[in-house]
Amino acid sequence: MAQSFDVVIIGGGPGGYVAAIRAAQLGLKTACVDDWRGSDGKPALGGTCTNVGCIPSKALLQSSENFEQAGHGFAEHGVRVKGLELDLAQMLKRKDKVVKASNDGIAFLFRKNKVAFFHGRGSLVKAGAAGCEVAVSGAQSETLAAKNVIIATGSSPRALPGASFDEKLVLSNTGALAIPEVPRRLGVIGAGVIGLEMGSVWRRLGSDVTILEALPAFLGAADEQIAREAAKVFAKQGLKIQLGVKITGVRTKGEVTVEYADAAGKAQSAVFDRLIVSIGRLPNTDGLDAGAVGLKLDERGFIAVDEQCRTNLAGVWAIGDVVRGPMLAHKAEEEGAAVAERIAGRKAHVDFNTVPWVIYTTPEIAWVGKPEQQLKAEGVEYRAGTFPFSANARARALGDTSGLVKFLADAKTDAILGVHILGPFAGELIAEAVVAMEFRGASEDIGMICHAHPSLSEAMKDAALAVDKRAINI
Ligand code: FAD
Ligand code: NAI
Repeated sequence: MAQSFDVVIIGGGPGGYVAAIRAAQLGLKTACVDDWRGSDGKPALGGTCTNVGCIPSKALLQSSENFEQAGHGFAEHGVRVKGLELDLAQMLKRKDKVVKASNDGIAFLFRKNKVAFFHGRGSLVKAGAAGCEVAVSGAQSETLAAKNVIIATGSSPRALPGASFDEKLVLSNTGALAIPEVPRRLGVIGAGVIGLEMGSVWRRLGSDVTILEALPAFLGAADEQIAREAAKVFAKQGLKIQLGVKITGVRTKGEVTVEYADAAGKAQSAVFDRLIVSIGRLPNTDGLDAGAVGLKLDERGFIAVDEQCRTNLAGVWAIGDVVRGPMLAHKAEEEGAAVAERIAGRKAHVDFNTVPWVIYTTPEIAWVGKPEQQLKAEGVEYRAGTFPFSANARARALGDTSGLVKFLADAKTDAILGVHILGPFAGELIAEAVVAMEFRGASEDIGMICHAHPSLSEAMKDAALAVDKRAINI
């Protein structure tokens, strides 16, 4: 007989596991079905984010930055390093350990909150007002009856036509996080978030990195001024980024040859030892049996949902990368928690305008709200205030002075419309702007708050004051 639950969640990534924990906290009988296996073949909760995304990439970004600093940064501080060596096997082992700690942490939280975990593939057998059924095919087959189903099946890397991932020469994010030796020549297709982060890791470890990007503009989603500054810093670091290219072919034979037309339309070819393809991701709907139960997908193949993450089927919800909106772990988490609240009869709201973005390069790039070019296009009257980290005492003490903070505020009400940062710990600093925007704060509010000295956060205060042309330190 089918086991019965109030909520069955398909997918144990940041969307699914947060939904499961919150649903259980709210007193709902909850199960989570996830099919991920770690390198040891055992179930590994946490989805893309924990296993081959956010967590391992940040572990390698930190390790490779330490290597770069020891090789090129410490001397300026009067710290001489002799006989510096890279132990890549240890670096990768440490990354795996960081991942495993997160996998185990989620399994612990499931036990603590009494979330029933089923390892295997979940598919929707039945859905509707009378109740839903999820079939689990794994080591054991199960059928789970549920009043509500939350689909949180995430996304997978998009391949270039004609160049499928072999994870040896042509790498997705999975292979890019586990290259066993530093490639001398590394090609990257796509100068998006993964391209910049993984390109940075391997450049710091010694690869000659070329990134080929289709769009003529660099980091189109970011504020143009920030993107321009970032492009200059990355070029100085040695990342070769070519914009406006059209890939015409990829051939592999011991090495990878990429044929492309450059921005001027001239045919080019480049040879690499490995090629990372990071050109976006596709929603995971295969195997869910969406068609059989009549689950509606949108024109781009994502599960179609309303603002509250309801699908077209009664009792069936969908969250995270498998639905519209930014493909970010914290967006998936917020949607997961919000859906659990709604199922429990409570109100919840996720505001996409205050979802922060962070790109973990050096310097980091972070933003929330609208970029200046969008305000201009929308005809919004705004005032801008910027402050460079070179004028911030803590940044100078750190030896990390590239970049700036930029505040954009409504010209009449002073409400903060966007905050954009390129600089040290931008990913931490942005939280202050998110809080201010959630509370409908004005730039003057940030300018009038006491910030510790010396701290990077003072650059936030000075940029906010600069909106009214009264920054103190510049
Ligand atoms: P996922 O994390 O993809 O989890 C879905 C889970 O469902 C997986 O375990 C999958 O195996 C399982 N599943 C799928 N179908 C089924 C089925 N039928 N039955 C059972 N299980 C199923 N985001 C950030 O916010 N910050 C970052 O720093 C960041 N870094 C990233 C770095 C890389 C290299 C990549 C690739 C992504 C990164 N992301 C980052 C994006 C982030 O990983 C995703 O937005 C996030 O994982 C989405 O969460 P999710 O729960 O929707 O799906
Ligand atoms: P992306 O959307 O960030 O970037 C893809 C890039 O590839 C774009 O610039 C696009 O113009 C380019 N592109 C597309 N087709 C191309 C082609 N044929 N030739 C050349 N360039 C092409 O996607 P990416 O980097 O694959 O990452 C996927 C998602 O994962 C991100 O959008 C982000 O949501 C998430 N992520 C988040 C991170 C973070 O928050 N720090 C880190 C890594 C990933």
